[in-house]
Amino acid sequence: MLVFQDIWVAILLAHTTIILNTIHCQRVECNPRVVQEDENKIVCVCNETYCDSLGPITLPEKGSFIIYTSNRKGQRLKKIVKSFVHGKRRLSQYHSASPYKIKITVDTSKTRQTVLGFGGAFTDAAGINIASLSEPLQKQLLSSYFGPDGIGYSIGRIPIGGTDFSTRPYTYDDNNLRVDMNLSAFSLQKEDFEYKIPFVKLAQNLEPTLLLYGSPWTAPPWMKTNKAYTGRGMLQKQYFKVWANYIVKFLQEYEKQGVRMWGLTTQNEPIDGLIPFFPFNSMGWTSSMQKDWVKNYFGPILHENGYQDVKVMILDDNTILLPYWAKDVLSDPDASMFVSGIGVHWYTRQLSGYEGVRKTLDLFPDKFILATEACAGFLKWQDNVDLGSWERGEEYGEDIIQELNHGASGWTDWNIALNKLGGPNWVNMGADSPIIVDSEDMEFYKQPMFYILAHFSKFFTRNSEIISNQISANNSNLISSLISGLSGFDAQLNPDFAKNIFAVAALRSDNAVVVGILNKNEFPVLVDLVDSNGGRGTAVFNISEKSMSTILFMS
Ligand SMILES: *[C@@H]1O[C@H](CO)[C@@H](O)[C@H](O)[C@H]1NC(C)=O
Ligand SMILES: *[C@@H]1O[C@H](CO)[C@@H](O)[C@H](O)[C@H]1NC(C)=O
Ligand SMILES: *[C@@H]1O[C@H](CO)[C@@H](O)[C@H](O)[C@H]1NC(C)=O
Ligand SMILES: *[C@@H]1O[C@H](CO)[C@@H](O)[C@H](O)[C@H]1NC(C)=O
Repeated sequence: MLVFQDIWVAILLAHTTIILNTIHCQRVECNPRVVQEDENKIVCVCNETYCDSLGPITLPEKGSFIIYTSNRKGQRLKKIVKSFVHGKRRLSQYHSASPYKIKITVDTSKTRQTVLGFGGAFTDAAGINIASLSEPLQKQLLSSYFGPDGIGYSIGRIPIGGTDFSTRPYTYDDNNLRVDMNLSAFSLQKEDFEYKIPFVKLAQNLEPTLLLYGSPWTAPPWMKTNKAYTGRGMLQKQYFKVWANYIVKFLQEYEKQGVRMWGLTTQNEPIDGLIPFFPFNSMGWTSSMQKDWVKNYFGPILHENGYQDVKVMILDDNTILLPYWAKDVLSDPDASMFVSGIGVHWYTRQLSGYEGVRKTLDLFPDKFILATEACAGFLKWQDNVDLGSWERGEEYGEDIIQELNHGASGWTDWNIALNKLGGPNWVNMGADSPIIVDSEDMEFYKQPMFYILAHFSKFFTRNSEIISNQISANNSNLISSLISGLSGFDAQLNPDFAKNIFAVAALRSDNAVVVGILNKNEFPVLVDLVDSNGGRGTAVFNISEKSMSTILFMS
């Protein structure tokens, strides 16, 4: 009897903890777990009774600044408050010890694009994994992203029908390959009702300003040249109108379920469907087909149906296609008038860099650019899931900084949750995710990717304006260290260290300045952070090796 009572008390306490955490918006520290005895690989474990959370972000007082740091050693958004340093003499006291020193200058008078937000995708795979957890854990997971004490996700991408991250290929009107011009066989599927809509609605309740956008992977095979979900196949011209009606039906059906889209992309990765034997759900478009469809069918049909406010994003494919794809579609004003933005994926970033993104925004300054998909671990020879990998977090951080510095207004991750094998995925092409679910042990793991994303999603709030920033390396300390042969440093002194540091800055609508700094070096670096406008002094601080930092101060 006593045993039973203890159990009940334990359960009651557990539930109270969860409720308290949700209501009081407290900070709860990471429960770390070292993966495979590699101290560089750390995940934070959440179970039914314990889950770390960031808690509220308070603004610094004038004269001081706040640094939040995450690093490979295991810090997760650790907060410290420091004071600005005034006067050359005092500054020089801080400078002597470190061989590596940079100066970051931000300029609040040079504002650029406005931030829309950060988020991830509600794929079938994500929903299946979330649904495999108990209800309290499902809530913990979604609160971790969307809740008031979570990391501030404010964007959600919703696949229109199936993707490779589903357990089967499908659309909303498969109709056994029979033509269905009136879309009378159109219907949402089990996946929508079980794995997408319930979690989208939970996220919406947690974050009422959530911006949702839909993306189609393929039309029903009967509309396509190859009559298949995969491989090389395009939309046949006689179905251009039906396909636009299909997207409108998706908007209407989701609205009936209480989910209204803020935006749509025209097609996920239109190039995929031009590739013979492409392995998963795809549909091929050239830029001129896309222009024709948007101008003559999609745009007008959205308007006729009262969806003129829905933000249409073209491309939704790799940055290597910019600026030419945008030029092709948007140089026609009758197509451009229906388009609000350009969606970009990260998969060709090493090949193409980011100049195409900047050029596109320069050419079409009235459009926004949104990163609409990125994931790690998708290559055949990679482990899909690399639990605790700091380097995968770094990849996210570097890409987000580059995208923002080149004109993007936000960044959307791919699956918000996957299982330990990086699935499910019906063509067995798994990937990694910031949250990995283990339904056997009834827990989930927050990876370094999750925290690095948090450094942006929580702090670069919607309507912040990206401002110019400049990194300059001051090698005078490095040189004197080399000369004096400071023991311990000689082996790794690296004059190119500044190339491994990336920074982005923004002015928020609450007048705070926010600066994100990624240090990919294997050693700490001393930073002088100054605002070119201000006489507030210099923020002097070390960024640790392999770290991501976010600095906040009042402008
Ligand atoms: C959850 O994690 C906490 C913190 O490590 C631990 O004390 C607790 O026993 C765990 N609960 C369950 C049900 O495993
Ligand atoms: C499609 O709808 C139109 C008008 O609503 C109707 O006249 C036509 O018969 C329908 N066609 C089919 C194949 O159902
Ligand atoms: C570089 O640092 C040294 C010593 O800290 C300082 O005297 C010098 O003015 C700095 N140079 C620049 C360009 O900031
Ligand atoms: C930076 O780190 C060095 C070396 O550990 C230390 O001597 C110095 O005081 C630190 N500077 C600041 C501003 O924290």
